[in-house]
This record gives sequence, C-alpha cells and structure tokens, in this order.
Amino acid sequence: MDSTPRTVNVGLIGLGTVGGGVARLIARHRDEYLSAYGIDLRIKKASALEVSRAAELGIAPENFTTDWHDVVADPDIDIVIELIGGEHPATEIFEAALTSGKHMVSANKALLGRHVERLAKLAAENGVQIRCEASAGGGIPIVNALEHALVGNEILTVAGILNGTTNYILSRMDAEGLDFDEVLADAQRLGYAEADPTADVDGFDAASKVAILSSIAFHTRVTTDDVYQEGIRKVSAADIEQAKSLGYVVKLLGIARNTADGVDVRVHPTMIPANHMLASVNGAMNAVYVVGDAVGETMFYGAGAGSFPTASAVVGDVLELADAISHNDRVQAEIEPFGRVLPIRSVEDLATRYYIRLVVDDEVGTLAPVVDTFARHGVSISTINQLHDGDGTKCSVVFLTHTATERDLQALRADLEALEPVREVASVIRIEDVDAWAEGAEANE
Ligand code: HSE
Repeated sequence: MDSTPRTVNVGLIGLGTVGGGVARLIARHRDEYLSAYGIDLRIKKASALEVSRAAELGIAPENFTTDWHDVVADPDIDIVIELIGGEHPATEIFEAALTSGKHMVSANKALLGRHVERLAKLAAENGVQIRCEASAGGGIPIVNALEHALVGNEILTVAGILNGTTNYILSRMDAEGLDFDEVLADAQRLGYAEADPTADVDGFDAASKVAILSSIAFHTRVTTDDVYQEGIRKVSAADIEQAKSLGYVVKLLGIARNTADGVDVRVHPTMIPANHMLASVNGAMNAVYVVGDAVGETMFYGAGAGSFPTASAVVGDVLELADAISHNDRVQAEIEPFGRVLPIRSVEDLATRYYIRLVVDDEVGTLAPVVDTFARHGVSISTINQLHDGDGTKCSVVFLTHTATERDLQALRADLEALEPVREVASVIRIEDVDAWAEGAEANE
C-alpha cells in the first residue's frame, strides 16, 4: 500500500493581519509539517481584495484570486479558511464551502457567535467540520481544551478577559489614573484600539466570544443575543481608584456559569479581588479561567489577537483536519454541538453585590432620601463613603451593597435617578463573588 501522504489543499480567504500570518506560518513550516507529521499542506488558492497582498506574502499569481467564489468552487480544495470577519459575505462563504463538502476553519466570532447552530447543522449534513479555535481568545488553545482535554468534566464556570482592547484601556486607567476617553484616544493613536472602537468597548466582541465558549463548555445553545452585555465607557478613573482602595480590580469579564436555574451568561465591567488570578492579567493580553467539576480551577493565558498568535490557532485547526485527510482517515462530521438545550437565566435573577457611585448635592440632609430609597427596594447597604471630589456644591458618594438581585437593583437605580438631590447615578459595577465560581468542584475534596 502506498503510504505517501496525499497533499491537503487549503483555500485561504482573507489576507489581512491574520490571513497574512497564516500564509507566512504555513510557508515557514511546510517542510516541517511534512517531515514531522507526514502532512503535505499546500495553499492551493488564496483570495483578497488587494492584489498587492499576493506578492507581499509570496503567493504565486496562479494561486491568487480577488474573488472568493474561485476558492470555494475549486474541487481540489479540502479545507477553506475564512478570515475576513463580519457576517457577509462570510455566511455565503460558509454555505458554499460546506455544501460542497469542504471543512471550514474560521476566526469569525461575529458570525459563529450568532449562527453556529445553523452552520453546524449544514456541516453535519455534508459530513464536514467547522473549527473555530481562533474565534475566542486568539492564540489561547481554549476551544481545544474545552472540546478535548477537559471533556471528562462538567464545566461549571468560564470567566474570561476576552477582549484585549478593553483590557489594555482598563489596565492603563488603573496604572496611570487616567479617564476612559483619554486612554481610548491614546490607544487609537497607538493602534491598540480601532478607529471605530464600538464592538470592543461596548462589549459585543467579548459577548460573541463568551457565547462561543459557553456553547462548547456547557454543550448547549448560547448565542451572542443571549449574553447580557455592558461595556466600559462609564467606568471612570474615580471608580478604578475606589476599587483599588477596596482591594478590587475592574475588568471587563465574559462570565458564563452553568447554574441549576440555567446558564448565567454576561459581559460587563466587574470588580474582582486584586488577588484573583484574572486580576493580574494586564495590557492587551487575554485569559480564560475555567472550573470543571473534576479538575477544579484552571487558567489559560495568552495573546488574544495579533497576526501570529491568531494564525497559530488557525493553523492548529488546519493541521488537525489535515492530519486525518492526508492519511485518508475519516474526519468525523460536525456533531451537532448542542447536546442539550439549557435555559438561559435572565440577568434580572442575578444576585450579587454592587458598587454604586452617585453624584449628589453636597448639602445637609441629602443622604436621608437616598438611603431611604435603598431601603424601600430591599437593597441592603454595607458601606457608604463620601469622596472629596466635588466643588462644594456636589460630590460623589460610593455605596457598597450586600447581595441584591439585579431586578431590585435596576428598580432602585431608576428611583435614584429621579431623586431631587441625586445629580447622576455615575456608576453601577457588579462585585463578583469569585468563590462561587468554583462551587461544586471536587478537585480538592
Ligand atoms: N478586537 C479584539 C480585541 C481582537 O481587542 O481583543 C480580535 O478578537
């Protein structure tokens, strides 16, 4: 029998930052893939809108096209890598490639966060796979860990710093005492934040990623639209300074918990104890903390974006598929990824502690109606601290609460906003009970 591995032909759609990294990585290590793993990998066709990218990346003209249709229509191509992002034409690329029996590898969190269920069914019907390691956590091999290494666990919690832009901004606000707008402008100037930073700073990017990770971790349907989402625009230098003095750090976390009442899944600025392992993840780095019932607490850290880190995840997926294809092993068809349908818990049922900063009139008697409003909503105050940040007519007052429900908190907030002496409900930040994340783990029992 001929044991020569057959060439695995790859189509690469998108030659931007990540696509360029993939082309370079494959060109650099192709001989090694063959000698070490017996995988003969070739980029048969690559597409990009800019013709100049082909020459820049050393892609021969006969292997380049400006039309993605040429890639998915090529009958020799086994695996299509989609790295253009966004919903269109990525959806059409997935549909065309899957229906013509090609495996898909993608980093497209916006698409997969919303439509993976439909696309996975299409893949299963056509006997092919969708692999998406690069869609969450960039170069961190978290999808692989959840799908393979941790599969013996019931995953209880996934909590991650899943967006590098916001972590960079919050880290600098923390280190330099600057306000959000100042750091954002500087981050844009330095290329850490996009000119339109909305998807990052308003939490959409992290919401897509936590939807993908929680679907895989809990074997259920979680889409981006199920994720309660709040960004970091309202976090101020004053809040970060207060957090610090209270022993907390503010992070934009994607949190997913597999609770008895359903999946609790949310993205919002969160106060966590300064000694928690996620608290020390700074700059543009990402980290994903996972608790499994058997393994206990684990933590995965790495670059969440960038050309080579993200390409590393893409190429890992490609090689795993190529290993089977090149040795004529059957590649298992996509299994409908959602073995069960767990309910999504409404954020209104969340019970947590809160940090609330009000800007109030600095006058005798101001606090009496404020405190009374907390009491009327059954929200118990644990600490009150007046800050000396005003001009004599107004000042901030920080309230920490005992555990309250989000439902009560939002009703309280509406009433506080309507109170005469309250000029502004400047911040409401949830203080996460990180000890609860590991409840139910048997690791140290
Ligand atoms: N914009 C993302 C971030 C990187 O800031 O982390 C790509 O997912």
